[in-house]
Amino acid sequence: MITMDLVLMEKALLGLFAAVTVAIVVAKLAGKRFRLPPGPSAMPVVGNWLQVGDDLNHRNLMAMARRFGDVFLLRMGVRNLVVVSTPELAREVLHTQGVEFGSRTRNVVLDIFTGQGQDMVFTVYGDHWRKMRRIMTVPFFTSKVVQQNRKGWEEEAARVVEDLKANAKAATEGVVVRRRLQLMMYNDMFRIMFDRRFESEEDPLFNKLKAANAERSRLSQSFEYNYGDFIPVLRPFLRNYLNKCHDLKDRRLKLFEDHFVQDRKKVMAQTGEVNCAMDHILEAERKGEINHDNVLYIVENINVAAIETTLWSIEWGIAELVNHPEIQSKLRRELDAVLGPDAAVTEPDLERLPYLQSVVKETLRLRMAIPLLVPHMNLSDAKLAGYDIPAESKILVNAWFLANDPKRWKRPEEFRPERFLEEEKKVEASGNDFRFIPFGVGRRSCPGIILALPIIGITLGRLVQNFDLLPPPGQAEIDTTEKPGQFSNQILKHATVVCRPRKL
Ligand code: HEM
Repeated sequence: MITMDLVLMEKALLGLFAAVTVAIVVAKLAGKRFRLPPGPSAMPVVGNWLQVGDDLNHRNLMAMARRFGDVFLLRMGVRNLVVVSTPELAREVLHTQGVEFGSRTRNVVLDIFTGQGQDMVFTVYGDHWRKMRRIMTVPFFTSKVVQQNRKGWEEEAARVVEDLKANAKAATEGVVVRRRLQLMMYNDMFRIMFDRRFESEEDPLFNKLKAANAERSRLSQSFEYNYGDFIPVLRPFLRNYLNKCHDLKDRRLKLFEDHFVQDRKKVMAQTGEVNCAMDHILEAERKGEINHDNVLYIVENINVAAIETTLWSIEWGIAELVNHPEIQSKLRRELDAVLGPDAAVTEPDLERLPYLQSVVKETLRLRMAIPLLVPHMNLSDAKLAGYDIPAESKILVNAWFLANDPKRWKRPEEFRPERFLEEEKKVEASGNDFRFIPFGVGRRSCPGIILALPIIGITLGRLVQNFDLLPPPGQAEIDTTEKPGQFSNQILKHATVVCRPRKL
């Protein structure tokens, strides 16, 4: 073991020496040719890594933008990281030069989980991406899908309400509502994908799936593997971490295959019908448009991109409603006034509920689930704001900062849904204003917005219709400390919430 480590260390040091030499030469050459964006001065090999550290979250990047400017460059070892912090530059990256900046970077971990970009979310801009996005659109991302599935979402939300009402603890000491909502989100998406649902939180298959997805999320969003990603000579030290990722990837894809995809193949063989999203995807495979690995990576993408992001947003929404009882009451008054006391909110009702829509938008603004969007990348050398952007730079659009910049918003630190009925009443979540782009804009924008908005609206609406949502006894507020990841932002502590049934 010790010999092994010494060999590794020797290799690493030799590699380090070679890399220093190469880096100095490259830096000298590059310095002459390029007009790079501003940023802290970089050291050889490690670049800015030791100065700025690992925690490249939306708030730290906002602080750096204030220091270095609207577009700045960090050299994180071999990776160039360009951070964009104004709506004008966001427009340039996502819209005007949407093709140039329309690729994705992966890192050593995402390479593993996506089979080097055989998926859709993390693949470079090009034919494969176009094909995957086209194949996924009909089964997942149209208003027909919403119309076919919205009753399912309403039913799942109704079951959440029923279960909370049946649980005496929920009304007194409170429960971690997220746990039940997680089951709901899996059911919402697994019904679309496989026409399947899980009966309870105890379902062993649901628990296996949940554990595998949580581990995938933890391993990829962590900052702890940055050193091996940024500095390739240190990669041998990441061996155990990467082995864990490989092992999990294999187990997870097998779980999708054995328990869900195969099942759907059998049903299709019997009925010959195309009923759920997976049937469409398997059709595409049968026609030779994609291979079976692509099929599994589509399942992987939905498990991460759809379920977690929406769940985090609902969780943030509940936390803000608990901490702002006056907003919660106002929302309840709207629901009662528009729908009457007995009608449970449904998807078609949402357009008649402007305050509910504003609560959803305000949650997405202040507590953006993907505050840095999914990292973009330019395959070739590019220009931005007069600067040269070296090929294959990771481009982070700090969407959270755009939506929380006091220069551009009135008291942005306040959770105040009214802003979307008053001074910001024209602003939509779909990106009609580059200050507010929680789902991105343009070619790589989130196609799932069409599902996410109604699911969040229905869920928050039904909870507020049925319960007073309160902090647990003895606690004035829910703790809303953030837990940012590589590009995510979750609540750190899954809150215990008292759900006191309303007396009507
Ligand atoms: C509140 C919930 C959600 C939020 C905040 C969210 C946010 C985002 C963001 C910021 C991006 C990247 C945009 C960019 O890089 O420019 C993205 C991409 C994506 N999202 Fe979502 N999303 C949510 C829900 C969903 C759902 C429900 C689905 C699927 C049913 C989904 C599927 C995807 C896919 C496939 C991509 C990759 C698009 C591409 O690279 O071409 N998302 N999402």
